[in-house]
Amino acid sequence: MKKILVANWKMNPTNAEKAVSLAKAEDFSGVVIAPPFSFLEDVKKAVKNAEVGAQDVFWENVGAYTGEISPEMLKNAGVSYVIIGHSERRSHLKETDEMINKKVAKGLAAGLKVILCVGEGLNIRNQGISEVEKFVKHQLAADLKGINNFKAEQLVIAYEPVWAIGSGKADNPDSAATVHKFIKKALADTDKQEVKVIYGGSVNSKNITAFIDKEEIDGALVGGASLDAQEFKKIYEIFKRG
Ligand code: PGA
Repeated sequence: MKKILVANWKMNPTNAEKAVSLAKAEDFSGVVIAPPFSFLEDVKKAVKNAEVGAQDVFWENVGAYTGEISPEMLKNAGVSYVIIGHSERRSHLKETDEMINKKVAKGLAAGLKVILCVGEGLNIRNQGISEVEKFVKHQLAADLKGINNFKAEQLVIAYEPVWAIGSGKADNPDSAATVHKFIKKALADTDKQEVKVIYGGSVNSKNITAFIDKEEIDGALVGGASLDAQEFKKIYEIFKRG
């Protein structure tokens, strides 16, 4: 399975010029770059081979929903991927599994590729991997409830342990691989065996090899380290060789 690398810029950088310069730092083929909404079109124009992703989407295509962006608007802006259910949105914006489920359904229906983020907090990880698996299984079931009408290549699951995000403490690649295997098995009960499962949480140029070398890990979602052009180039070089 071809692996993918996703750059989640979160609420960075502060202007379009910086965004374009980051996006053009390399060829970035096979990479999904996810800038803030306001830079999507500039980044789309700037990249040659990278795909562009949004960091969120709403569940209606048009209407009285102040502040929201619809799947159709993203499609019309040349966006091909959308990240849904990131833990920062689950915690700061109080996004529920029910909301995430509607976003995933509408995103897929619009023809966007969805990167659905799941992952446990530290209290659950401290109880052991079987509790992590139970938690992630519950999230997947809730977030994908009733959603069957899509092709496996339209969905990517990002396993991101919440405690590993932005903390500088990446998961142990063996533990992450165990959870990835579990997620793949959970999805295999449906007809979606080919869904990619990628790892996210403090990935950098020093640790990416240990993750993407694992058979169960189909790529990486990089946050903080994707904002440093030199560091992300290194990550990309490793990914390309991988
Ligand atoms: P990080 O973020 O690489 O800064 O830990 C990953 C993410 O939140 O997607």
